[in-house]
Amino acid sequence: MNAPLSPIRAIQQLPDNLISQIAAGEVVERPSAVVKELLENALDAGATQITVRLEQGGVKRIAITDNGRGIAPEQLPLALARHATSKISSLHDLENVATLGFRGEALASIASVSQLTLTSRTADAGHASEIDGSTLAVTPSSGAQGTTVDVQDLYFNTPARRKFLKSDQTEFGHCAEVVRRIALARPDVSFSLTHNGKTVDHWIITEIGKRSASILGNEFANARLALDEGAGPLRLHGFVGLPTASKARADAQYFYVNGRFVRDKLLVHAVRAAYQDVLHGDRYPSYVLGLDLDPALVDVNVHPSKIEVRFRDSRAVHQFVFHAVSRALAQTSATSFGATPAPLPSPSGAMPWIRGSQEHLQAILQPGVQVPQQQTSFGPQFAPAANGVAQTTANYGALFTDNQRVAANYPTALQPASQTLPSDDFPLGFALAQLHGIYILAQNTKGLVLVDMHAAHERILYEQLKGALDEDAMQVQPLLIPVTFFADAVEVGTAEENQETLHALGFDIAAISPTTLAVRSVPALLKNADAQTLARDVLRDVREFGGSRVLVERRNELLGTLACHTAVRANRSLTAPEMNALLRQMEATERADQCNHGRPTWSQLALSDLDKLFLRGQ
Ligand SMILES: Nc1ncnc2c1ncn2[C@@H]1O[C@H](COP(=O)(O)OP(=O)(O)O)[C@@H](O)[C@H]1O
Ligand SMILES: [Mg+2]
Repeated sequence: MNAPLSPIRAIQQLPDNLISQIAAGEVVERPSAVVKELLENALDAGATQITVRLEQGGVKRIAITDNGRGIAPEQLPLALARHATSKISSLHDLENVATLGFRGEALASIASVSQLTLTSRTADAGHASEIDGSTLAVTPSSGAQGTTVDVQDLYFNTPARRKFLKSDQTEFGHCAEVVRRIALARPDVSFSLTHNGKTVDHWIITEIGKRSASILGNEFANARLALDEGAGPLRLHGFVGLPTASKARADAQYFYVNGRFVRDKLLVHAVRAAYQDVLHGDRYPSYVLGLDLDPALVDVNVHPSKIEVRFRDSRAVHQFVFHAVSRALAQTSATSFGATPAPLPSPSGAMPWIRGSQEHLQAILQPGVQVPQQQTSFGPQFAPAANGVAQTTANYGALFTDNQRVAANYPTALQPASQTLPSDDFPLGFALAQLHGIYILAQNTKGLVLVDMHAAHERILYEQLKGALDEDAMQVQPLLIPVTFFADAVEVGTAEENQETLHALGFDIAAISPTTLAVRSVPALLKNADAQTLARDVLRDVREFGGSRVLVERRNELLGTLACHTAVRANRSLTAPEMNALLRQMEATERADQCNHGRPTWSQLALSDLDKLFLRGQ
């Protein structure tokens, strides 16, 4: 049955105001969005002092005053015109945009759904001028340098939209949260917020430590770690809360990219993964983190509200953020447990694969090779203590049998390139010792090699997983006894809906009751990992990254997480043969893939560099 056809209408250009009203649906979906747009305009205008006055949750009135550079009277109508902006003028500007706004549609959209007046005065103007949003008439007015945007009766002319608004208190809550977000990013600006005539918040100009303490409270201020790390074009700074400052809800997570508050799955995921070892799954970490990078490396024009971003190299960003936060968190572990290289007690009881040298050895050494060892250079102090790992090459080789079977099925690119490698030339040399459970020190012909053990192992595993998936040759390890665990409805649903994706990754996770999942197989490369933890992580990633998309767009992030969770942890003591095995694998992997994502895994200190330290030969 056909529905009755409506009469054909001619195609017409929509009137400007209607276009703005349509756009308003996206840009200013509720009062807090208006607050955000106006605050961003004030900051873009260089304001150092901003006042926000709200009435009835912002629905009745939002008035924001700043002391920024103001708008010249003749420009006032343009400020309210659609697609008019002073912030960009070319595609090149757009790709390098450093201001918060650039779309030139906020004021036009807001004006189309409210009674708006804008009063402004520049430094060289004799007096302020005011423009009426509906008539666009400009009249002289009074006031100091800066701008006041007064928005009254939001959505008065779009009752449908108005109906969707919640109670005044709820709307006010959203507005206050927006002010907090922006105030956290800009401690160099003072903010005050009043609601129905009462002052709710007032933050004076200060530095980020104090600003974040006053906004997030003592709980956070007393249990946080400062962080400031850079790598190439990336810099991450701010504070991460200790596990004691974690919360039952994810409401103290503030992430900024180039000063812009964002909610980005990738970043949230990277931070959460870093907390993996120290936080139970049902607790949410608190943090205030800023990621700064060249604006050209991130697209902020993904959504009109600009709350989502897209990174040019998302894997590198994920890795960098993950590692920077992990390191910050690991520092406390190191201090609180002393510098002993013993395995850290893991609060969540996860990571059992780092225990037991035999198992660990298999985990760390994947495709088997006869690992050349420099026998003579290991003093007795490097003899593996009571763990029974033989140190001679011959005995050591015997431990590989299991892995060799796995290795045989790997794509050739990942096989150690022994044929191209002169047998007496090992670029990364031979292990001498391990430093603070983090670095391997090795000697090669040039001098000293420093290897970040976790990063290196992670990289190797990552390449192996990627290779296996690329070749559709993910080896599966069936579990003799399936691992069953209690799962919530979301986990069970995710497992059921994504069987194909899970299979492609080498997982067999089946629902055996509405609340129980059984892991029946895992990827062979990860077989030493804890099956339950692994299954939970994979399900979480699959759900978060969106089902089958995980294998396409988000594949590398997922593999990165898997590799990272399985890679040897900091503070693990490795035996010399283990360290050498890692070096040999790195040589094979580096050659297999020259592109160097994220941070480096090793660094060379030449003898001449060392000589310089001691003023030798000068
Ligand atoms: N508080 C303010 N102080 C100075 N200029 C402002 C202010 N708010 C808006 N403007 C001017 O009005 C223009 C339009 O603002 P808007 O519609 O928010 O678009 P956008 O911020 O994307 O440029 C801005 O480009 C800016 O030149
Ligand atoms: Mg704007």
